[in-house]
Amino acid sequence: PSDLVIAIDGTSGSGKSSTSRGVADRLGLRYLDTGAMFRAMTWWLLRQGIDVRDGDAVAARCEEPEILSGTDPTGPGIVVDGIDVGRAIRTDEVNAAVSHVSVVPAVRTRLLHLQRDVIDGGGIVVEGRDIGSVVWPQAQLKLYLTADPGARAARRAAEAGGADVASTRESLLSRDRIDSGRATAPLTMADGAVHLDTTPYSLDEVIDQVVALAEAAG
Ligand code: C5P
Repeated sequence: PSDLVIAIDGTSGSGKSSTSRGVADRLGLRYLDTGAMFRAMTWWLLRQGIDVRDGDAVAARCEEPEILSGTDPTGPGIVVDGIDVGRAIRTDEVNAAVSHVSVVPAVRTRLLHLQRDVIDGGGIVVEGRDIGSVVWPQAQLKLYLTADPGARAARRAAEAGGADVASTRESLLSRDRIDSGRATAPLTMADGAVHLDTTPYSLDEVIDQVVALAEAAG
């Protein structure tokens, strides 16, 4: 049905983005990358010179940036105060800072409202860490994607044009630790979610599996 919502949560680098975009494209659905929203917030805070480990300072300013998310799975992603930050949010600096920003409850509350405004009406694939558990627990299909850390790091490093695999692995695992350990909306497998370990599969195989589940669910 047109109100279909597919929630795709999971660890960093497990293939959530490529899978979510591919599934949305195949099924003619919209797509929302909630990680990009946390990254956009982080990019803006860093640009203001705010110490991202100072939760009070982050909370005091997090209402200020205007964050607009594109929902075309093959189109541009995210705009902050009129600036397309699609590339700027994928730097090492943002990677290292984003999990500190996303623990702050005021940040989560603000982005939660933006996320629900986009999801409302359905027909969308939404990826993140807390979509099935907090943002949209009523989603008709919930996936929890994981992959072997070595496989994840190899994929990410290759995407980044040959970055160092060992340091990429540490960066992914560090984000997972912070994301899983936080008090508000931690990374966790939601009730009713289907666990998919993507390690042995190609992207097309993962997309096929999710599309089959979506057809059964919707
Ligand atoms: O998905 P991506 O790796 O781009 O997400 C970046 C970071 O944003 C995550 O490591 C996490 O700290 C935060 N995030 C979150 N909740 C979401 C999506 C992302 O806390 N729903």
